[in-house]
Amino acid sequence: MTANDPSPHHLQLTRDGQLRHFLTLDGLSRDLLTDILDTADSFIEVGERTIKKVPLLRGRTVVNLFFESSTRTRSTFELAAKRLSADVLNLDISTSATSKGESLSDTLLNLEAMASDMFVVRHSQSGAPHFIAESVTPGVAIINAGDGRHAHPTQAMLDMLTIRQHKGGFEGLKVAIVGDVLHSRVARSQIRALNVLGVAEVRVIAPGTLLPKDVESLGCTVHYDMAEGMKDLDVVIMLRLQNERMEGALLPSEREFYRLYGLNRDKLALAHPDCIVMHPGPINRGVEIESAVADGPQSVILNQVTNGIAIRMAVMSMAMVGSLPNASAPRLREDRYESFSSRQRRKPQDCWRAPAG
Ligand code: NCD
Repeated sequence: MTANDPSPHHLQLTRDGQLRHFLTLDGLSRDLLTDILDTADSFIEVGERTIKKVPLLRGRTVVNLFFESSTRTRSTFELAAKRLSADVLNLDISTSATSKGESLSDTLLNLEAMASDMFVVRHSQSGAPHFIAESVTPGVAIINAGDGRHAHPTQAMLDMLTIRQHKGGFEGLKVAIVGDVLHSRVARSQIRALNVLGVAEVRVIAPGTLLPKDVESLGCTVHYDMAEGMKDLDVVIMLRLQNERMEGALLPSEREFYRLYGLNRDKLALAHPDCIVMHPGPINRGVEIESAVADGPQSVILNQVTNGIAIRMAVMSMAMVGSLPNASAPRLREDRYESFSSRQRRKPQDCWRAPAG
């Protein structure tokens, strides 16, 4: 399967190529990624209204299932679901039955018994959202909010939306991802998205100890020297040192890392003057980025956070339509509001529970 040729049997797609779950960017076409970005664009306006709500997910229940800590991702998923008018349940895993030894499958069965329609899942184990998507009742959508080192597809898509807003498109762009690529699910999803959307060049800039083996096979070039890697850049994406996932000493010291790979004004000056600075957060000032850069005129870090709501609204509403029993639902972008609500009116009780055909 190639990036532009999504298999109709792929777990996260319906037979006619609509999103049913959102687990990974692997196997998703440029058209589908563009559809997500365009749908998100139409939701940005909702966030600027006094009453920030549309009725797309009215009466649906979304469960935020975060087995790992999160601030931005969890709160923007919650806001996105609420702006779509869903009922939202935030399950605090530290006080849930999972911490009393209940298995993941049993926790899910219980949540399904409460007629949940969508699970947003973050887990330290790569593949946990896939596992859930394989076993969940048909019609329940699973959205990956970050699994282990594997993927963080909504983060990558909000980053793509931010790049498109500031650069007008992807063609010809030179983009670098700097720092702890080894432990980063964000970097893996970003490299995928940037390649599918057709940028000119994706670079990773890091010490060898913070790069996965065969990183080039993901679709990027490698630079160990930051001054060299920063040349002619249009976009620089900084990553946090993910100490919680590090086994053993991979770095001499944080100070040494900052000296070599931290983004300060001098290193940023080596890129194009209009190069934008991105970071998925949380940022560590003085470890991977200088405050003057994080808060400076080229930084779009807070735009990324705002865009997270629109992207998550887009993905959730698309997956809800894709999990309808009739897989050939109308294309979302063309007539999103109308097609969705008329479907609900026609078959209210069948919409979410009948097994997929
Ligand atoms: C990232 C994550 O959790 O993978 N953050 C995020 O989702 N905003 C990156 C990180 O933790 O450094």
